[in-house]
Amino acid sequence: MSDMPDFPDDTPEPASREDKLFRGNPKAPTRAFVMVPWLKSAEQAARKTGRILRSPAARIDEAVGLAAAIDLNVVGTAAVIVAHPRPATLIGEGKVEELKQQFHELEVELVVVDGPLGPGQQRNLEKAWGCKVLDRTGLILEIFGERAQTREGSLQVELAHLNYQKTRLVRSWTHLERQRGGFGFLGGPGETQIEADRRMIQERIVKIARQLETVKRTRELHRKTRRDVPYPIVALVGYTNAGKSTLFNRLTQADVFAQDLLFATLDPTMRAVTLPSGRKIILSDTVGFISDLPTHLVAAFRATLEEVLEAEIIIHVRDVAHEESDIQKADVIRVLASLGITPEESAAAGQHVIEVLNKIDLLGEEARAAAINGTEREPDVVAISAVSGQGIDGLFTLIDSLIQDEGKDVSLLLPATRGEAVAWLHANTHVHRREDRQDGMIDFRVLMSPAAIGRFEKRFPDLAAPMLEAIAAETPERDDPA
Ligand code: GTP
Repeated sequence: MSDMPDFPDDTPEPASREDKLFRGNPKAPTRAFVMVPWLKSAEQAARKTGRILRSPAARIDEAVGLAAAIDLNVVGTAAVIVAHPRPATLIGEGKVEELKQQFHELEVELVVVDGPLGPGQQRNLEKAWGCKVLDRTGLILEIFGERAQTREGSLQVELAHLNYQKTRLVRSWTHLERQRGGFGFLGGPGETQIEADRRMIQERIVKIARQLETVKRTRELHRKTRRDVPYPIVALVGYTNAGKSTLFNRLTQADVFAQDLLFATLDPTMRAVTLPSGRKIILSDTVGFISDLPTHLVAAFRATLEEVLEAEIIIHVRDVAHEESDIQKADVIRVLASLGITPEESAAAGQHVIEVLNKIDLLGEEARAAAINGTEREPDVVAISAVSGQGIDGLFTLIDSLIQDEGKDVSLLLPATRGEAVAWLHANTHVHRREDRQDGMIDFRVLMSPAAIGRFEKRFPDLAAPMLEAIAAETPERDDPA
């Protein structure tokens, strides 16, 4: 028997140095306050350019939703008008003081500022308020960190996080950091400590970048294997909480993680689906978009959206019952465009974009009828309810009709020196035959989907020309139904 006293099971473990930072039981949700800075300059700029700005209330709603995604207990919110941004604290001194009082009364442990803060501003506000401050980038990184499912996702999040942290020598509030054991930014670190932390972060960045390379190579291999499966990829994209996971489940009848949390999915989930016609597709779920995603985060998460670039059909899922549905749509379209997906580019690449008006069960009768009628005039728009199943058959039919043309067997003669085109064919088509000839030419016979033909033509116009002529000369042959 040991001399140590026995603690009953429910005795909390002694608080560590880190836990004390969060005042009290670390398992209780952190008491958070959401502050939306309303920049007058942004309002004026929007007025000039005609861009519609989200209302402060809608921004608060979204930020509260984001905070809930990482289990923060939001105890208060405020929109603060910022006529003249202060370099030191963003908002004015008086407001800082006023909020301090409020935070004290509400026992706030963490303030989420829904906008970007410079490292100095973050530090000064933390000092003034005596609690942790997280800006929008920090909050999004937290969410991504919690939701990352694959090795690559986690590494990317950590990399983005370290880069963000590097400039901030205050301890940032992060689950990730707690998991890693922390870098010790607590309690005003001394110079040596800061130096050591900086070095440690830098070393870790280098190491993660190396690991990412390996993961990416493996991933590329997997993708190549998948491309050899001649099923078209159909990718679901959309605003966070639009209902992508719910629709994914309905279409695959699978039980993937769907819940009323923003960002329920970070990494693409892939599943093969057999359409009513018997044709197969690969359905891919992706991370939800959010407003004003900082550009460097778009870059960091680009890989999670790479499946979208590869997709033959992109399904843009919209929550039509959301009061800012149109603004959300514009946001998604803008992010897609930043990835090079525009109507013109897609058409040129033989890629189709379907717009799905989801959650019509939440609309009033009139609005529902209007949504359904509207889709009748738009060939690539479908109104559905992922929850009730209404409209799902129509969506299946549309997908089916878009991929009906399954592909063509084509012959191509390429100089062996055109390595890039040769690699492209192997990666994007099904190669029936390859003959490396004595005269330095390679004779290919491949099965190409119409989308692949479009992409090849765009990328290698000189090589595609003879192939297209041959296709045009061929009399269309129809396979006799067996
Ligand atoms: P992220 O993973 O954050 O990008 O979200 P998501 O787009 O995958 O949304 P998800 O499928 O998790 O759905 C969000 C919420 O909307 C859940 O509570 C769903 O039950 C609800 N929802 C989805 N589709 C419908 C629908 O057609 N009708 C109704 N009433 N609710 C829906």
